[in-house]
Amino acid sequence: PTQNGQNLRSPICCILGHVDSGKTKLLDCVRGTNVQEGEAGGITQQIGATYFPAENIRERTRELKADARLNVPGLLVIDTPGHESFSNLRSRGSGLCDIAILVVDIMHGLKPQTIESLKLLTDTSTDFIVALNKVDKIFGWKSCCNAPMKEALSKQSKDVKTLFNHGLKKVKNQLQEQGLNTELYYKNKEMGDTYNIVPTSALSGEGIPDLLLLLVKWTERTMIERLTYRDEVKCTVLEVKVVEGHGTTIDVVLVNGVLHEGNQIVVCGMQGPIVTSIRTLLTPHPMKELRVKGTYLHHKEIKAAMGIKITAQGLEHTIAGTSLYVVGPHDDLEVIEKAAMED
Ligand code: GTP
Ligand code: MG
Ligand code: NA
Repeated sequence: PTQNGQNLRSPICCILGHVDSGKTKLLDCVRGTNVQEGEAGGITQQIGATYFPAENIRERTRELKADARLNVPGLLVIDTPGHESFSNLRSRGSGLCDIAILVVDIMHGLKPQTIESLKLLTDTSTDFIVALNKVDKIFGWKSCCNAPMKEALSKQSKDVKTLFNHGLKKVKNQLQEQGLNTELYYKNKEMGDTYNIVPTSALSGEGIPDLLLLLVKWTERTMIERLTYRDEVKCTVLEVKVVEGHGTTIDVVLVNGVLHEGNQIVVCGMQGPIVTSIRTLLTPHPMKELRVKGTYLHHKEIKAAMGIKITAQGLEHTIAGTSLYVVGPHDDLEVIEKAAMED
């Protein structure tokens, strides 16, 4: 439980947007990693997950001098591909999240997969924040590394400000054409009806503090019920992967509940339900990407929300995108097997 007695889980935030709008780079900027440059062709082809502990978010938002006393343990961010051929992965990612970041390149505005992503979000009534990315590409932009956006903008020349306002206005108009009211977040007086825009640069970090703080504060303010921790396990398989030394593993997002080493689990398989038990529960280090090979932390148990790699026997034919079930002492295995296959 947190200071005021609330037992909240970490919000899950999905990053969506057109190919190369800067989704992975934004995460790299917050993590201090270089995942994007390691991707084949600079293209994301899998769903990823990264956990940001509250203390790192507090650190990163300090300059906003906000009362950044966070009530959630952290933030779990799901990265998705923007390439048109991966619409199933965008749908999987957006289906899991509490809130989303829709990344729009300020130089290019709305693109087909921006609109596709918007549709996914509005169809499921998922709240989101627009990250208007690549502001550093505005001709003459003076970089103010990791500065809050208001401060960064105040340091720009009149010409840069004009170009920025022009780009912002264009995107606002394009979003309006899609039926959405949006406003620069610190000017937004009708949060909730009017979606927030946070300008960012994933290269020099301007606006990153704003984006993080808004994400956490907004979810804490509007989603308390939804974020209240529940024991009932809710868990989705993101990816099925062979990992050297571990055999076939599954990357999952645990949305609610606790997983324990040794738990009997059921997942949906291509030839029927797979019943097995958790051999190891692995996570990357905090602020590291689950989908990138690295060293893993071993856990006896893990509480939601978290991105987890599970090793167990017989996972070869697991179908990604389906739910994982834990068999409790009083559960009827047959009922769970049936539920697992209905996904
Ligand atoms: P997919 O996952 O393949 O859809 O792309 P993405 O949205 O994750 O974009 P990615 O992070 O791969 O960035 C695409 C290119 O844009 C890379 O070359 C990045 O270095 C560059 N880029 C991303 N964000 C910024 C930014 O804020 N400023 C500048 N100048 N370049 C950026
Ligand atoms: Mg990417
Ligand atoms: Na890319």
